[in-house]
Amino acid sequence: MRSQNHKITGSLDHKNIISVEQFDKKDIKNIFQTADEMRKLVEKSGGDESLKGKIMTALFYEPSSRTFGSFITAMQRLGGGIIPIHGVGSTSVKKGESLEDTIRTFGCYSEIIVLRHPNEDSVHKAAKVSYVPIINAGNGGEEHPTQTLLDLYTIYRKFNRLNNLKGVLAGDPLHSRTIKSLLKALALYSNNKVRILSPTNLRISRKLYTDLTNKGLKISEIDGEKDISNDADFWYWNRIQKERLAEGSKSGSKFVVTTKLLEKYGNDKMIIMNPLPRIDEIAPEVDSDPRSVYLKNQMQNGLYIRMALLKLILT
Ligand code: CP
Repeated sequence: MRSQNHKITGSLDHKNIISVEQFDKKDIKNIFQTADEMRKLVEKSGGDESLKGKIMTALFYEPSSRTFGSFITAMQRLGGGIIPIHGVGSTSVKKGESLEDTIRTFGCYSEIIVLRHPNEDSVHKAAKVSYVPIINAGNGGEEHPTQTLLDLYTIYRKFNRLNNLKGVLAGDPLHSRTIKSLLKALALYSNNKVRILSPTNLRISRKLYTDLTNKGLKISEIDGEKDISNDADFWYWNRIQKERLAEGSKSGSKFVVTTKLLEKYGNDKMIIMNPLPRIDEIAPEVDSDPRSVYLKNQMQNGLYIRMALLKLILT
């Protein structure tokens, strides 16, 4: 872990969220309890005024639909205000202002900053100088901790446990921050087994592999669909991260979820997840499959988790 990644240890009060490595099982359970309250609140009345008088800056240097949209509505549903910066082209970044000075600036106008940036070191630099808590909304190919919390919440709501799970994660593990963060979180719980399906050139780093297996996560790296076992609890498919591939390099084979693949290697109890955006890694014919959660529940859970985080950090 790098700088400013303080352990949560029971309280999110004014803490940064930089990495899933800050959380233990109890912290995650507490967040789920608050997310359950947020879900009921939204269903009952749309929201409340518990963050009235607080402002959130959403500072996104990279495109986003879900993370940006759900953080914005999360803050608004709790009565707070927003500074929505969706692309920094109209800010003083365009004139050459540094990330650090931009963070200091918005820390003068808001109580919390949600940052998405293409560079892995961005969130660490930001946390070092920020006057207010920083939430990492994706730093290059490194981490996306709030996505992982909503992914875990989605799995938990289906299976009522986060241990003894079998998962298949596919796509581009080397560059996918959502896969890396999810693997780190699954390693917190006992007896989780994952198969990671990707071309051999897109496997996770050996360092991460060793860290995860030392923590007890059982990993099989596979490069063909025939090695998907048919007893998985969840499939987690993610696109090839073209924007993070080295120039001129090829991604290798692509693995696409189709009804045929599900018939061959799926089972009735599993769920099919994708952090999205989906490009072509899940065929549209799968969208209406009752096991598919990516186009509704998984995204909705992002709202409840982000409401919970804002509330727990700011009140
Ligand atoms: N899952 C996710 O981060 O989606 P966006 O890029 O749309 O925010």
